[in-house]
This record gives sequence, structure tokens and C-alpha cells, in this order.
Amino acid sequence: MDVRLVEKALLGLFVAAVVATVVSKLRGKKLKLPPGPIPVPIFGNWLQVGDDLNHRNLTAFAKRFGEIFLLRMGQRNLVVVSSPDLAKEVLHTQGVEFGSRTRNVVFDIFTGKGQDMVFTVYGEHWRKMRRIMTVPFFTNKVVSQYRYGWEEEAMRVVEDVKADPMAASEGIVLRRRLQLMMYNNMYRIMFDRRFERMDDPLFERLKVLNGERSRLAQSFEYNYGDFIPILRPFLRGYLRICKEVKDRRLKLFKDYFVEERKKLASTKSVDNAGLKCAIDHILDAEKKGEINEDNVLYIVENINVAAIETTLWSIEWGIAELVNHPDIQQKLRNELDTVLGPGIQITEPDTQKLPYLQAVIKETLRLRMAIPLLVPHMNLHDAKLAGYDIPAESRILVNAWWLANNPAHWKNPEEFRPERFLQEEAKVEANGNDFRYVPFGVGRRSCPGIVLALPILGITIGRLVQNFELLPPPGQAKIDTSEKGGQFSLHILKHSTIVAKPRVF
Ligand code: HEM
Repeated sequence: MDVRLVEKALLGLFVAAVVATVVSKLRGKKLKLPPGPIPVPIFGNWLQVGDDLNHRNLTAFAKRFGEIFLLRMGQRNLVVVSSPDLAKEVLHTQGVEFGSRTRNVVFDIFTGKGQDMVFTVYGEHWRKMRRIMTVPFFTNKVVSQYRYGWEEEAMRVVEDVKADPMAASEGIVLRRRLQLMMYNNMYRIMFDRRFERMDDPLFERLKVLNGERSRLAQSFEYNYGDFIPILRPFLRGYLRICKEVKDRRLKLFKDYFVEERKKLASTKSVDNAGLKCAIDHILDAEKKGEINEDNVLYIVENINVAAIETTLWSIEWGIAELVNHPDIQQKLRNELDTVLGPGIQITEPDTQKLPYLQAVIKETLRLRMAIPLLVPHMNLHDAKLAGYDIPAESRILVNAWWLANNPAHWKNPEEFRPERFLQEEAKVEANGNDFRYVPFGVGRRSCPGIVLALPILGITIGRLVQNFELLPPPGQAKIDTSEKGGQFSLHILKHSTIVAKPRVF
């Protein structure tokens, strides 16, 4: 490490500590802040709390400090709410006040400081982006237009798995094939494109760059430089890599997808008979001057992450739970056979007729919530919450996972038991009609993609269970369901090998 840099940083830290102490004494403004561990100058609670701010660690703090607590992480205020009433206050009652987003130094890079939709503050730009994206992505019309494509992609997964002799014997990493399916589901909507095979070079490049982006953004390892600006020089290398990945990724989206589509649009009419794909709508908005070229690319960026990864993680969790609970898997298969008839392949409209399938999906999203802390919210201005002062620009995390896994509110929450959604929790829906269960958030910043995610989950899990018996690999009683949490993501740590034995009808 550069010794002079360390010297400078230490000196800077000392000066900043003195200044911070003096300023706070002089200011004398007494705020009533939420409870939390006692902070020290400069570092706040960072030395006590560390970097790993995942949903389980934040749950442990909630047990100590209560349903609202404050962590002062260097210069950043982190407010965590962990009760249904406070979730309602943040997401609904004071939805405008807490409807902005914070970005950290890394998300600033990947979103061009909020030129996208997911990470932009609540205001004009967000409203415009949400309006422009709604027609091409987030309506029931999109579902009725693209569901045939999703059914076809799921059918191809089934065919490919059946054709692979390893699948029925030693097993395969099913997730790899499902990843291709999820890309195809979304790239058909976005660009009217699909990738034929897992080794398609363009698909490979996309996968690698998106994977790098997620790893870099979700990692906790850069927290110190984000929380404590004076340590930021040590983050230079990391941020340089982020910037390179961002540039390469946006260039790939532009050169291979957006420009291709523009060319196609100029050579033949793509808007006859409703054949427009999402990017055509987005490019129309650009032509009208509503958004710029960068906004277009950041919309593509958002869909690559917000839509593909979250849904894929949820499918992967659902399959893992079904493999580890063969009785539940069999019950689901029986429902599919009884309602649809053996061998009759599930389609999107069928998903409504299958209550146990719906319950399996809800239970997966409850126990294995893909975004367990929601995407961080923020208050642009000073605010009040539960009688406490919340300084402007605090990061507000709703611990949605704990809301849905707190034994004070749920019967044996650690159990994977879909029946709860047919029995004591029969009225609870995934759209947030109950603040104990908000896997897609609620209110202004809630997930608009729920309308696509639920049918895709239903079709995919339904087809797999209809066509295969899904088992752990030989010699293993269960597959490993250890978790990997990130800044606000939760996925399975190891992509398991799964045996898929074709059923004979
Ligand atoms: C199982 C799959 C999915 C889960 C669990 C999920 C979950 C979430 C959550 C928790 C949020 C943040 C809510 C908040 O901060 O209050 C969110 C936001 C968002 N999701 Fe999803 N999502 C999924 C699939 C999708 C899909 C398929 C799309 C797009 C087609 C999508 C697009 C978005 C967008 C654009 C936002 C940002 C909304 C805003 O800031 O205004 N998501 N999602």
C-alpha cells in the first residue's frame, strides 16, 4: 500500500475527527434520533457493526434496538424498520417523503448517478421513466402478448433437459439452462430476440458482464470507502473496475441490441399489427425528446438486473425447496395432473386455477425473498418516523424478510410450508395487501414487474414439476440451501446439481 497515502489518510482522519466533534458541539441542535449503538466520530458505528449489513444481521439489531433503529455508518445514516406498521408508514402513508432512493459510490457508477429508473430519486425523471416503461413492460397486455413465448421457452427447457442423459442420472446444474430461458423471456420482450444455445457467444458476453456488475454492486467489500469519504482513495482501483464494466456493458447493449433494432426499424416497418417490441416504444420516447440516449441504455441495464436476476433467483429457490421437500413436490404434481390432466402442459391462464402452485410460489418468495431489504429508500428532506427525527438523505431499509419471517407474526416461519397460504394466511397476496408480506414492496416504488414475474414463475415451476421428478444428486439427501446476501439481494450460495427424471405418462 502507498505509505504516503496512508499517512495522508490518517492525518485527514484526525483533522476530520476534531472538526466533527467541534461542529457537533457548536451546532447544539438536539435531534431525537432512533435508538441504535452509540457512534464514534468519523466512523460512526462502522467499527462495531462491520460491513455485512445483510437481512439476518439487521434482524439481530432489530431484536436489540427495536422496530426502528439507526446505524451511523461513517457519514451515512442507515435507518432500518422492522415492523408491519412502520413498513406501512414508509411505503404507503409517507410514501412520497420516503419514496426516493439512495445510491452508494458503486451504484452511482452503474446507474450514471440515477439516469435510470430503479435508482433515481422520486421526482419528475422517475415519473417520466415509469410512464415510458409501463406500456412496453408492465401491463397485462404484455403478459397476453408474450406468454406464448414464455411457454415455448419453458417447453424448450424441458426438451433440452430430457435430451441430456446426465440429467436423469448424475444430475445437471439446472440453473444454467434456466438462466438462458430467463434471458430469452426478457430479450424477446425487449428486442424481439432470443439466444438459441447456452454457448451463444453474445449470450456468454452478456452473462459475464451482467454477472460482474452484480458481484461488484452487491458486494459489501467497498462499504468502508462509501461510508467514510476520507478512505475513498483506497477504493480507486475498485471504482475503476466498476467503471470499465459499466462502459463495456452499455456498449454491448448499444452496439448489439439497440443499434441493431434501429437498423431493422429503418429497413422494414416494425410497428404494424402491434409487432413493436419494448425498445421500439422506448426509442419513440427518445425521438420525441422525452429521454436521451443514455436513459435508453439505462432502461436496458435495469431490465437486465431487476427482471432477469430476481426472477431467476426465485425460480432457483423454488426448485431447491421442492427438491428438499419431495412430499410438497408430489402434492404440486398431483394438483397439476388433477386440474389439467396428466401430460397437459401448463399455460399462463392455467396458473390461476392452481391454488397449490400459487401457494408454493408465495412460500418461496416469503422464506427466500430475492430482495429481502427492498431496494433502499431515502427521504430527500428531514422527516419524522415513529416520533423520531430522520435526517435528510438517510438510507431507509425495510427489512421485508423479517416482516415475513418473524415468529411473532407467522406460525413456524422457518418451515417451508405452502399450506399456510391456503389456511391461516389464505387472504395474503404477493401484491402487498398485508404489510407482513411485501416481497415486491408496496406503493410508489413497488415492483412494477410483479405482473410478469408471477406468471413466469408459475409456468416455469409448473412445467418442471409436471415433466420431471426433481431430486438431489445420488448419495445426497438434500441440496445445500445456504444463502448469499448482498447489499439488498439474496440468492442461493451454490448452484446445485439436480437430478431431473422424466415422467412417463
Ligand atoms: C421474483 C421476481 C421479482 C422480485 C422478487 C422483485 C422485487 C422487487 C422489489 C422488492 C423492488 C423494490 C421495491 C421497493 O423498493 O419498495 C423492485 C423494484 C423494481 N422491480 Fe422488481 N422484482 C422482481 C421481478 C421484476 C421484473 C420481472 C421486472 C421487470 C420486468 C422488475 C422491475 C422492477 C423495477 C423497474 C423496479 C424499480 C421500481 C421503482 O423504483 O420505481 N422486477 N422489485
